[in-house]
Amino acid sequence: MDITLTGATGFIGRRLVAALAGRGHRVAVLTRTPRPGASPRYIQWDGRTPPAIDADAVIHLAGEPVAQRWTADAKQRILASRVEGTRSIVAALAAAPRKPSVLISASAIGIYGDRGDERLTESSPPGAGFLAGVTTAWEAEARKAEELGIQVATMRIGIVLGADGGALAKMLPAFRAGLGGRIGAGRQWMSWVHIDDLIGLFIHALDRPLAGPINAVSPGPAVNAEFTRELARSLSRPALFPVPEFALRLMFGEMSQVLLASQRVIPERAIKEGFRFRHETLPEALRSLWASQP
Ligand SMILES: NC(=O)c1ccc[n+]([C@@H]2O[C@H](COP(=O)([O-])OP(=O)(O)OC[C@H]3O[C@@H](n4cnc5c(N)ncnc54)[C@H](OP(=O)(O)O)[C@@H]3O)[C@@H](O)[C@H]2O)c1
Repeated sequence: MDITLTGATGFIGRRLVAALAGRGHRVAVLTRTPRPGASPRYIQWDGRTPPAIDADAVIHLAGEPVAQRWTADAKQRILASRVEGTRSIVAALAAAPRKPSVLISASAIGIYGDRGDERLTESSPPGAGFLAGVTTAWEAEARKAEELGIQVATMRIGIVLGADGGALAKMLPAFRAGLGGRIGAGRQWMSWVHIDDLIGLFIHALDRPLAGPINAVSPGPAVNAEFTRELARSLSRPALFPVPEFALRLMFGEMSQVLLASQRVIPERAIKEGFRFRHETLPEALRSLWASQP
């Protein structure tokens, strides 16, 4: 299959490209910073102007990083890179001489907002807050490709556990130094997914293909206190230093919402569609990550 990806130079995309190429797919990457002679093929794309697309499937991951201080400018970049970026991809699909049959667009469990202990499935309504608004608008843009007869899946990605990026890479220095601790009271649910299962879910959605929202999380979400305990235990370190909510707000401003929001997300679709998770429990997922480290 010819597959075109955006955002493929990032934490998730790099792994996905390697997995797709390993399965014999021909991969092209739309990027703001092409490298001549790179393999896979890099094609210049500014993130806004509809690119030329000639592919059987498109996987759209691009977006301004969310983990930064949410100044007015940063919020605008986070929103515009997703809404306008996705709009330009759909415009490119409309103009493509050969229409891809599948679009898989990244989304996030941030769509559910802050929901306490509620079990959230793909049929739960969106929540409130900045990220929920961004994600709802982002998915709506992607769904417009359905009008072109294209199957559209939106991957509501949870906290991705990988040794070389994402949330874990940010937490590791403190935890390795024995300075980790729960956040606030530690009761907020964290819906995580091992990077290998996330890549597996993308491939599963591509092969079927699946349409509609898909919660890309493991079946074993954990509250923050448990997540903290298991992460520290997996590194054989104590986790004695809780971070008070006010300190987090001082450090990160409004972005601290991401760390404090409770999202108990269930991968109902993935389970119904017969996807087999390789990493269902947090202690095992963490063990497998450290075991795969050189
Ligand atoms: N990692 C997670 O835990 C997680 C959780 C939920 C959702 N997601 C979503 O999944 C997608 C991929 O995540 P990731 O962790 O792989 O992200 P990442 O490492 O930050 O990579 C995202 C890619 O998007 C492109 N990009 C960055 N800023 C951009 C901008 N302002 N305009 C246009 N393109 C821009 C970059 O590609 P180029 O430089 O090549 O153009 C970058 O490599 C993102 O949309 C993210 O929101 C991730």
